[in-house]
Amino acid sequence: MSISIIAHRGYSSKYPENTMLAFKAAQKAGADGIETDVQLSKDGVPVLIHDETLNRVAKVNGYVKDFTLKELIEINVGKGFGWRIRKAFIPTLEELLAWIAKTNLSLNIELKNSQFPYESMEAKVIKMVHHYKIADRTIYSSFNHESLLKINKIDSNAETAPLCKKLKTCSWQYIKTLGASGVHPNYKYLNKNDVKEMQKQNIKVRPYTVNQKMAIKRLIHWNIDGIITDQPRKAKRYVYEE
Ligand code: G3P
Ligand code: CA
Repeated sequence: MSISIIAHRGYSSKYPENTMLAFKAAQKAGADGIETDVQLSKDGVPVLIHDETLNRVAKVNGYVKDFTLKELIEINVGKGFGWRIRKAFIPTLEELLAWIAKTNLSLNIELKNSQFPYESMEAKVIKMVHHYKIADRTIYSSFNHESLLKINKIDSNAETAPLCKKLKTCSWQYIKTLGASGVHPNYKYLNKNDVKEMQKQNIKVRPYTVNQKMAIKRLIHWNIDGIITDQPRKAKRYVYEE
C-alpha cells in the first residue's frame, strides 16, 4: 500500500506557505499531493491563504474577505524568508489548478469557511476543479462539515474528508452520513485501533500536521493512507526507508 505524502500549504517549512513557490518546491521534493486553504476575496474570487486575516503572513491588518482580488495579489507574503525569496504572492485557486493539471499531483482543497460561510464557495470551487479536469485527484476537506454535505449535493462523485481534531467526535458512522470517503484528524490524538477501524470501513485516514520523525514513522508502520506534512522531503524519505 502506498502512503501519500501531502505537502501542507506546499513545502511550508522552507517556503512562504500557500504560494506557488511552496507548491512547486513540494513537487520537486517528491510530494505526492498538495494541501491548500481556500477563501474568497471581497469580489468573490477563490484565493489561497490560511488565516482569515492578513496579519500573520503579510503584516497587513484586516480580513481577507474585505480585500478585492486586485488588492490581495499585490500583497507580499514572502518577507522573512531571506534574500533568496524576498517576494511571494497570494495565488488564486485557479492559478494552482492550472499548474496541478500539468502534473501528477493530487490536491487537497481545504475550504476555510468555519468563521465566514462564504456564499457559493463550494459551487465555485467545484466548477473550477472540473474545468481543469482534476476532479478525480481532488479531495475536499473542511472543519465545516455542512460544507462537505453541500459539496456532495453539487457533485455526488466528489471525494470529501472532514477535518476532525479528535476521531472521538467523528465516528465512521458519522463520516458515512457526510458521504465522505476519508477523514483528516490531528495526528496527536490518533491511535492504531482508530485507524484500523476506519480503514475496515473503507475510510481513508490522512492525519495532519505531522513533522516529527517518530510520529511520521509510527504512522507509516500503521499503514496510514496519507500524511499531511510541512516537510514533504523528509516524510518521503522515511517512506522509502521503511
Ligand atoms: O489539512 C489539515 C490542516 O491543514 C488543518 O489545519 O489549520 O493547518 O489548516 P490547518
Ligand atoms: Ca489547511
